[in-house]
Amino acid sequence: MTTFSKETYIQRRQTLKQKLGSGLVLIFGHNQAPANYPANAYTFRQDSSFLYYFGHSQEGLVGVIDIDNDIECLIGDDIDIEDIIWTGFVPSIHDLAAEVGVGHSAPTSQLQQLVDKARQAGREIMFLPPCRHDVMIQIGDLMGIHPLQVRQAASVRLIKAVVDMRAVKSDEEIAEIERAMAIGYDMHTAVMRAVRPGVTEKQLAGLMEGIVASRGSKVSFLSIVTMHGEIFHGDPSLRPLEAGRLLLCDAGAETVGNYCSDNTRVTPVSGLFTQKQRDIYSIVEACHDLVIQRAHPGLKWMDMHLDVCRLMTDRLKDLGLMRGNTDDAVSAGAHAMFLQHGLGHMMGMDVHDMEGLGQVYVGFDDEVRPSSQFGTDCLRCGRRIQPGWVLTDEPGIYFIPALIDKWKAEGLHREFINYERLDTYRDFGGIRLEDDILITTDGCRVLGQDVIPYHIDDVEEFINQ
Ligand code: GLY
Ligand code: MN
Repeated sequence: MTTFSKETYIQRRQTLKQKLGSGLVLIFGHNQAPANYPANAYTFRQDSSFLYYFGHSQEGLVGVIDIDNDIECLIGDDIDIEDIIWTGFVPSIHDLAAEVGVGHSAPTSQLQQLVDKARQAGREIMFLPPCRHDVMIQIGDLMGIHPLQVRQAASVRLIKAVVDMRAVKSDEEIAEIERAMAIGYDMHTAVMRAVRPGVTEKQLAGLMEGIVASRGSKVSFLSIVTMHGEIFHGDPSLRPLEAGRLLLCDAGAETVGNYCSDNTRVTPVSGLFTQKQRDIYSIVEACHDLVIQRAHPGLKWMDMHLDVCRLMTDRLKDLGLMRGNTDDAVSAGAHAMFLQHGLGHMMGMDVHDMEGLGQVYVGFDDEVRPSSQFGTDCLRCGRRIQPGWVLTDEPGIYFIPALIDKWKAEGLHREFINYERLDTYRDFGGIRLEDDILITTDGCRVLGQDVIPYHIDDVEEFINQ
């Protein structure tokens, strides 16, 4: 079963062929990844570009698009009686190919011959940079290069064509993302309702795992459920929640059809925010809302990020945590004491969409290059945003004791940061708010039928119902 109809995959390959014009394209699917011994594998996840062009979520497949000879072929091995005994019947490679409108199929043993023939004829052979080491070895073997050089040998022409296509989501892709958002809504609201002193972070993460699993889905990345919101990818622990602290939950679902959601909410463990928490939360809330008001086609996402940094700096000045000229502070990168990551990333089949293809191709272009300044260097997308793109809007404010100590010891940005006041926030933690937005023809739309409560009064009302 594929997520979309045969026509979708035929059309996508057709567009790719038109964009590239010539050459031999190899799209490698994933193989099972053993966890601790070969028969005990991690949950299988197909490569997203393979899913995009060839639809099937089955291990051991390679999609071939021979543009010069207008031949498409699905490569893989039919299962034998041993496999049938252990895993049951699966369709033949020929039938899988036919299901996505691919005219030819062949066993894996023919792949080397196909590649050798193309090389001898001096044809361009294009593949994407793999993220799995077994696929690096597989491509290295086929192409006669060291596995560690495979990512560098990937075709930039192919990467750019794939990024162009996958960045713009079709209506049927948006409908699938909306399905993920609906599951994400249930995950987050279940956690918000369950937050109270004594419950552990792990229990809350497990609650979400149960919700996704019961829908046949999985989490779109390892859930971040932590009282230490200042640790960006903080694993949930067995620590019981403590009254007075905040619980940051950054989690999402991946649908059966492999499209994701990604949201972050922060809930007061005691049911009400303290004034100090309200002060910081309301800044993040304002930054989050600024993006929803301003995002529109043609806007450089880098500029949006910097606008958010300026608003954050202004508001941190009101609290006495920052000082000086706002533009100068942001130009100098002083705001990165509080916001050390980028405003948001593309989202789709990968929660950080296409990140494995190389961030410089996904989020940047000749006009907007990546920044090397601490904080802004973590911005995963800077270029002009386009209709059909899905991005996360995820500003945050974090108090990281080790960073405070380091910058203070180095005397960094003293003219912009009030270190004496900052010391009184050392154990605050961190706040991030995250929603997923679709860039429309004249602005943006927050995805999800129901928005998980995030305005400060709505949160308190929701959790105390
Ligand atoms: N939601 C996790 C991340 O964006 O890194
Ligand atoms: Mn995110």
